Amino acid sequence: MSSSASSVAISGARDLGPRDQLIVALDFPDGAAALALIDRLENLVLWFKIGLELYVSEGNKIVEAVRSRGYSVFLDLKLHDIPNTVAGAVRSVTKSGAGMLTLHAAGGPAMLAAAQEAAFALPSPPKLLAVTVLTSMDPAQLASTGIAVSPADQVMRLAKMAYDTGIRGFVASAEEVAILRLAHPDATLVIPGIRPAGVDTDDQKRIATPSAAIAAGADYLVIGRPITQAADPATAAKAILEEIAAAKL
Ligand code: C5P
Repeated sequence: MSSSASSVAISGARDLGPRDQLIVALDFPDGAAALALIDRLENLVLWFKIGLELYVSEGNKIVEAVRSRGYSVFLDLKLHDIPNTVAGAVRSVTKSGAGMLTLHAAGGPAMLAAAQEAAFALPSPPKLLAVTVLTSMDPAQLASTGIAVSPADQVMRLAKMAYDTGIRGFVASAEEVAILRLAHPDATLVIPGIRPAGVDTDDQKRIATPSAAIAAGADYLVIGRPITQAADPATAAKAILEEIAAAKL
């Protein structure tokens, strides 16, 4: 198993197996809870996502702890600030060896370009992923922020803008995977808002099943609560891995 960000296979993920493609979101308040969940998953997956809740609480030491167990880390900090600040954050947070890092496409081309430049200057740069429209946003939520186009139109606009700055990875919902894949065949598509059939949707709005997202062209699925809050996380993860495998046949 990879323990170095530079050796993580990211682009070309469509050739990888289900185990590579399922990223489990460690949305926990502290490192002990996150590491306990990792232990319960019995090496079923290769990637874990560390988001704001856990990172703010534990910092780079939780990234290092997960990596030292042999897993790859997706650092989901959704950076969004002026270009100089985001470039500095890219340099600081990726010292820990995260393999993927998110930033909000809505930060604009100058911010994205500054982040790319900062990443390229690092010895083992993370794959930068531009978050387009959050999967918790429906048309009404989007309209409330002053954006009067559909989520899909906004995703495509932001993805093109990010692509033009050199970013080759996007976070979007399963609803946009097929059109994103068509427009940007070489991009890595990372898709949250995944819910197996019959599972609670929580606060997610633009959702799809694992098989629908994979069939539409997703490279990676980000799944949190359907696994982390399940009575038996390993059983839940195994069922999802089987669903991914079946969708690839
Ligand atoms: O628990 P659930 O499966 O809804 O978790 C989804 C994860 O994906 C969360 O950690 C959330 O922060 C993240 N995410 C998302 N929508 C995005 C980007 C990231 O839900 N657009």
